[in-house]
Amino acid sequence: MKVIPNIDAKRVPAHVAIIMDGNGRWASLMGKPRIFGHKNGVQSVRESLEAAVQAGVKCLTLYAFSTENWSRPAGEVNALMTLLVSTIRSEVDKLDEKGVQLKAIGDISKLPSKTHKALVEAIDRTKDNTKIQLVLALNYSGRWDISQASRKLSQYISENHLNPDQIEESMFSQFLSTAAFPELELLIRTSGEQRLSNFLLWESAYAELFFTDKFWPEFRKEDFFEAIMDFQKRERRFGKTGEQLKAVVR
Ligand code: FPP
Repeated sequence: MKVIPNIDAKRVPAHVAIIMDGNGRWASLMGKPRIFGHKNGVQSVRESLEAAVQAGVKCLTLYAFSTENWSRPAGEVNALMTLLVSTIRSEVDKLDEKGVQLKAIGDISKLPSKTHKALVEAIDRTKDNTKIQLVLALNYSGRWDISQASRKLSQYISENHLNPDQIEESMFSQFLSTAAFPELELLIRTSGEQRLSNFLLWESAYAELFFTDKFWPEFRKEDFFEAIMDFQKRERRFGKTGEQLKAVVR
């Protein structure tokens, strides 16, 4: 079945994540301050979410602010935090109407109180929605998540709930902040850079990677669909041979 031309509705990735990169460079090219790029990036967030809903993606995770982003000039950090508050407040009605469940990963307790409040309120307001999960990674990094999961697991062991030799991959995943989301299948990065930058390190083990030269503020619905079409052209082997996979299909 094809809801969108050239996209096979039966093979849509359940979980797509995006490293939204290139806001600053795009703004510089326009002769504008970096925050102009971030502001224009909000439209790309809207379009990606719409495209994800249309394609049938169940979970969309966006790298909105990394643990490393605190080292940016204070003016840019403040402007980004203010933009997050105004965007969450202005979009929450629409998100709720469309059945979007907002979630966050990362240590959000360290966000400025206004940002934290707006986020928690929107998460609470949309908690019963089931169309799609929109996950904002805020004060997040993959290594932070693996560290905090290790701390929780150690605690669990010290309370005698578990023996260290019983630790398995699937069990470890349960302590990550992404435990409740579907397996990550597609990771998109804009702006021509080709690295993970400490994003979803554990989760990207078997994800397909899609890189585009477009800067984030230029990213549109068609670009999201293109990434899904590209994903559908790939053979996902999970360590098996192509022949083994064909034998399973037959
Ligand atoms: C990376 O571009 C972008 C960010 C660190 C922030 C992304 C934030 C938004 C798009 C704002 C709104 C988001 C939501 C979810 C409401 P960069 O600044 O690193 O660009 P550069 O590599 O060109 O410097």
